[in-house]
Amino acid sequence: MLETPPLALYVHFPWCVRKCPYCDFNSHTLHGELEERRYIEALQRDLAAQAAAAAGREVISIFLGGGTPSLFPPEAIARLLAFARRHLVLAPGAEVTLEANPGTLERGRFAEYRAAGVSRVSLGAQSFDDARLAALGRIHCADETRRAAAELHAAGLENFNIDLMYGLPGQDLAAARRDLEEALALGPTHLSHYQLTIESGTVFAGRPPRLPDDEATDRMLEACGERLDRSGFARYEVSAYAIDGRRCSHNLNYWSFGDYLGIGAGAHGKLTLSDAGRVLRTTQMREPRRYLASMTATGGGASNRTPVPHEELPFEFMLNALRLVEGFEVGTFTSRTGLPWETVAARMADLVDEGLIVAAGTCYRASPLGFRFLNDVLLRFVPEIPKSAGQSELSIAPQPPPALAGRALFTGSASGNVK
Ligand SMILES: C[S@@+](CC[C@H](N)C(=O)[O-])C[C@H]1O[C@@H](n2cnc3c(N)ncnc32)[C@H](O)[C@@H]1O
Ligand code: SF4
Repeated sequence: MLETPPLALYVHFPWCVRKCPYCDFNSHTLHGELEERRYIEALQRDLAAQAAAAAGREVISIFLGGGTPSLFPPEAIARLLAFARRHLVLAPGAEVTLEANPGTLERGRFAEYRAAGVSRVSLGAQSFDDARLAALGRIHCADETRRAAAELHAAGLENFNIDLMYGLPGQDLAAARRDLEEALALGPTHLSHYQLTIESGTVFAGRPPRLPDDEATDRMLEACGERLDRSGFARYEVSAYAIDGRRCSHNLNYWSFGDYLGIGAGAHGKLTLSDAGRVLRTTQMREPRRYLASMTATGGGASNRTPVPHEELPFEFMLNALRLVEGFEVGTFTSRTGLPWETVAARMADLVDEGLIVAAGTCYRASPLGFRFLNDVLLRFVPEIPKSAGQSELSIAPQPPPALAGRALFTGSASGNVK
């Protein structure tokens, strides 16, 4: 039986000072003036139109992601959050995260973001080696990240994440360890440790830098994981580590196949219609200019709402839930997909036999081996194209759902709305 899961709100801010050569997020170099007022108004229209879908439901978290939301001044964020509070019911203590690029922060800004309602910050540090930051096309140096962290503490925003990448061009184990030490010294409560991946369509895909080999990146992952563990940061997802009580509620909701409204250019949403027995995906126009135009012309509303076909739900669920170190309960699968456990039981049993999944009572999680080869595990849940689709029997191979075709199913890097 399909049950209504918790609901969150994702807000996308699509501009950056400069596009980084490795990044395939929906982010665009800002040319000219930031149309701050117009964009916030578009977000408000978008939210007002989607708020009906949240009627009677509490919103457990808000994530202001990008792109670079910290390009927007605190007054703009305050207007948006006040509007959200008027149109949605925020759960008491709801986590409100703002992504910040250390190169965009004027002194004193964090105190104002906090006054606007931001309760958590995610700082894009990436590395603390200035030459490496330059090679990554970053607009800031390590000192700016250190200053930003000091300002976070001074503003009372002690609950902050640091995004760090490893497997960088020219990086060895000692350099990856140094980066982690620098990050830990800034006193974050959460650390996202992403392996640099080369994504198609990026500058790095056209001119690939020389990266450390798999053996070297495996050693970095292992050594940094051990160091994080010793410092009280438990790994709870492929790339996420947190001290006790500081896991990111917003991302946990994605990984447990919860619902979320997605507003802003290119934002995705997921909504469960339990009465209709459907899970819907919503997508907004990706290109910022077109998004702005569509919000002005239509007065708001999700431009695209599509039901997720039942046969794609097991894959979509596993793509999220198996990222979690603790895995998931059978009851979560059945209540959030509306499908009986038998839909996947045989495949799960095979994966358990192969040592890729561990079953403990009604809980299933990836084994250390399964975690390493998560792509292969996930491929088992990709729906097959029906034989009636006009292919010969021999050519029928598992295909990813349209939304994922052409993309790596899983990487250690940040993906989708998830940061
Ligand atoms: C969308 S960015 C938002 C943060 C902010 N725009 C910044 O970069 O400072 C989220 C994070 O994704 C990670 N990321 C983006 N592209 C990546 C890639 N190709 N490989 C690994 N991590 C990546 C970076 O660590 C980045 O901080
Ligand atoms: S990594 Fe962050 S700053 Fe760089 S282009 Fe992507 S979203 Fe913008």
